[in-house]
Formats: sequence, C-alpha cells, structure tokens
Amino acid sequence: MKVLIVGNGGREHALAWKVKQSPLVKKIYSAKGNAGIWQIAEKVNISPTDVKALVDFARREEIDLTIVGPEQPLSEGIVDAFEEAGLKIFGHRKDASILEASKVYAKNFMKKYNIPTAFYETFDNEKKAIEFVKKVGTPIVIKADGLAAGKGVIIAYTQEEAVNTIKDMFAGKFGEASKRIVIEEFLEGEEASYIAMVKDNKLIPMATSQDHKRVFDYDKGPNTGGMGAYSPTPIITQEIEKHIIEKIMYPTLEGMIKEGKALSGFLYAGLMIGAKGINVLEFNVRMGDPETQPIMRRLESDLVEHILDILEGNIDRVKPKWSDKYSIGVVLASKGYPNSYEIGKEIKGIQEAEKDKDIVVFHSGTDIKDGKLVTAGGRVLTVTAVGETLTKAKEKVYQAVEKIHFEGMHYRTDIGDKGLKYLKAD
Ligand code: AMP
Ligand code: GLY
Repeated sequence: MKVLIVGNGGREHALAWKVKQSPLVKKIYSAKGNAGIWQIAEKVNISPTDVKALVDFARREEIDLTIVGPEQPLSEGIVDAFEEAGLKIFGHRKDASILEASKVYAKNFMKKYNIPTAFYETFDNEKKAIEFVKKVGTPIVIKADGLAAGKGVIIAYTQEEAVNTIKDMFAGKFGEASKRIVIEEFLEGEEASYIAMVKDNKLIPMATSQDHKRVFDYDKGPNTGGMGAYSPTPIITQEIEKHIIEKIMYPTLEGMIKEGKALSGFLYAGLMIGAKGINVLEFNVRMGDPETQPIMRRLESDLVEHILDILEGNIDRVKPKWSDKYSIGVVLASKGYPNSYEIGKEIKGIQEAEKDKDIVVFHSGTDIKDGKLVTAGGRVLTVTAVGETLTKAKEKVYQAVEKIHFEGMHYRTDIGDKGLKYLKAD
C-alpha cells in the first residue's frame, strides 16, 4: 500500500513512524512533513491545506490511504474532496470538523446534548462581553471562536486583563477567528486528554495521556501547543474512563449524528477533572500534539490495519494492543516560543540520544539547510522514552534530552510529575 500523511509536526512524524511498521505498507508520502519524516517518507511539496493539489497528487500516485494530522485541512474540506474523488482518507468531513473549528459551535452543541462543560456565554460585541465580565468577575476564560493555533484562549486573572483581552480580540487579534468569542467559567483541577478513533456512533479508545500546556515548569507562563505528554495517565482511572465514554464520548457521537454531522476520524476531548466533575474544555477533531508521540510509542498493533477496518465498516474488529510500559515525550522548543522565535539553528545529538533503544526522537519544526539539520519552528523536537515505570521513563527521557543541543533550546523539566504524584509505589 501507499500511504500519504498530511501535516508537518511531531504528531505526523509519530504517525509516519507507526505506519512504517505496518507490513501492509510499501511506501509513505509526506505533505509536507519535516526533516524527520523525510527520513522514512518521500517528501511531497504540497501544503497540507492545498486540498486540490493533494487530491491530484493522490490520484496520480494512486495513494491507497491518506491520514490527516492537523485540523486546518479537515476544516477546509480535505476529506470531502478526497471522498468525491473516490480516494480513501481517514479524518472528519468539513461539517463535522466544526466541533473544533468553532468554539461557539462546540459550546452550544455541548449545552444542547448535556455534555458537561464550563458555564459560558458567547458574544459578538465588546460592550456586552465587558459587562458580562464585570458581572461575573475573575478569574475568567476568554476564547476566540475560531482556529488560532492553540493561542486563542486567555485566562484573565484580573478585570483589567479580561477587558484588554476582549478589546484585543474584537480589534482582530486573531482575525476572523476572534469576531465571536466565548467567555467561560474558570475551572480548576487536572487536565487530561481523551482520544479515540471514532466512526458514526462507535469508538475505539486510544491510550490515555496528559499534556503539559504551559511553557514553563509547574504550569507557569503562557499556554503553548503542548510542551510534553506521557501515557498512560493515572488521572484517568478505569472508573473515570467509563464515565468519559458514557457521559462525554457517546453523547458527542450521537449528538453529531443528530446534527447531520457524523464523526469519522480521531476525536480528542480535552478534559478538566476536578471538584466540578469531569468537564470538556475543548474538542479536537484530530490527535493531540505532543500526545500522539508517547501514545504511538505504546501501540503494539497495526495502526494502518485499524484505520482500514474502521473505514471499511469493521470497527468492531479493531482491538488495539497497548504496551504495559509508560512513555513520555518532552518537547524541545526554540527560544521565545510560544511567542516569536528565530529559526535556522543547527541541531546536534539526535543520533547519540537514539543509541538507547528506548528512545525515539520525533521531529516537529525541522528542516535541512546546506546539508545540515536545522530548527524551523517553535516546537522543534519531541524526545520520547519508554520505561517499565513512569519514573524510569522520565529518567531515560531526560538523559536523552541532555544529549541534544541547538542554540536557545528550552524545555520543561517536569514532564510526567503530574502522573508521579498519583503513583505512590512507582
Ligand atoms: P482549549 O483550547 O479550550 O482547550 O484551552 C486551552 C487551555 O486553556 C486548556 O488546555 C486549559 O489549560 C485552559 N483552559 C481552557 N478553558 C479553561 C477553563 N474553563 N478553566 C480553566 N482553564 C481552561
Ligand atoms: N496538545 C494539545 C493539542 O494538540 O491540542
């Protein structure tokens, strides 16, 4: 089989790495990918959002299966276009992708179908939004409606901050994405990621995981796309998982069918687990980045076979096999990320780090310039390790991180600690 993977990040490298292990797969193509993916896949010089060119390419090359990593191509209708052309693709159609593409839609959907989420109001004008904030007080969470690369959510701790954020958003800070906003109750607790492969009203859970969204240790600093993740997370116990499936995942699948927007692809519920129960912070219509990296390290069965079964209507046959080990992924970022950063810094030490068979380094923003591996994004690499315990996985991953270097490299040193708190005997 020929498989095309759409997307440029660490998530896509981890997917490509897993796809490569499938005996069904002869060749992998990557649009556009990064320097890590190009080691195992042929580079296709088409942007992930150039849907028409991707359809033409897939037709011409007779691609048997396309897997979409990021949300933008999904919400621009890549799946609809591939299906129209008779090409097999795993991901949600444009209408269903609105669950991630519009926070206003997602919140109203959750309210309609009794899916637990923070109390909220939606606004399309500054005055009413400011009045609301003055009435309910801070801390409060302000979210741009549309896709904003993980940056459209601001937690305002003071009224001044809230008012300034509202003004910035309506002044077009995120362009069209912040023409409408959601203002919602601030929830406390532990965040966790729950991801499943879904089709219509059925789902196959992926291993549990927990992301670390803030840029600095102990959850300090601004939100990022994610600075590290581990799997499984003890925060999602079997009992909690049952609750998530029954009260969140199935009602979501069934609600979307009722809305005429049946889901088909990866579905990610970002959860807050705390005194107010288990609430959905957001839905993503894709896998998480960096969650995918540690999750793929633990998947022992064949991802391609699972996806084909789902697409062919045989989801009941899909029985993923997960390793008993823990895995951790630590993101190495450019100086300045999640704000502006420089690129083009030479990266060294990956081969050295990967001498340990428990280590795999996934690339995010990397490129080749003048024959050298260089940084090309805010998040540059995700170093992953597996270990018998979370403690061992953590030790290993940070030993490997120390072998890698690029100018301005920064990373969190506490990835996994949130889980360790719950694992007394580990
Ligand atoms: P979202 O894109 O909606 O998941 O928001 C990004 C991040 O903002 C989440 O991962 C949380 O860390 C934080 N966040 C979002 N909504 C809330 C909320 N209602 N209460 C507390 N933190 C939140
Ligand atoms: N790691 C969070 C996300 O992918 O949205």
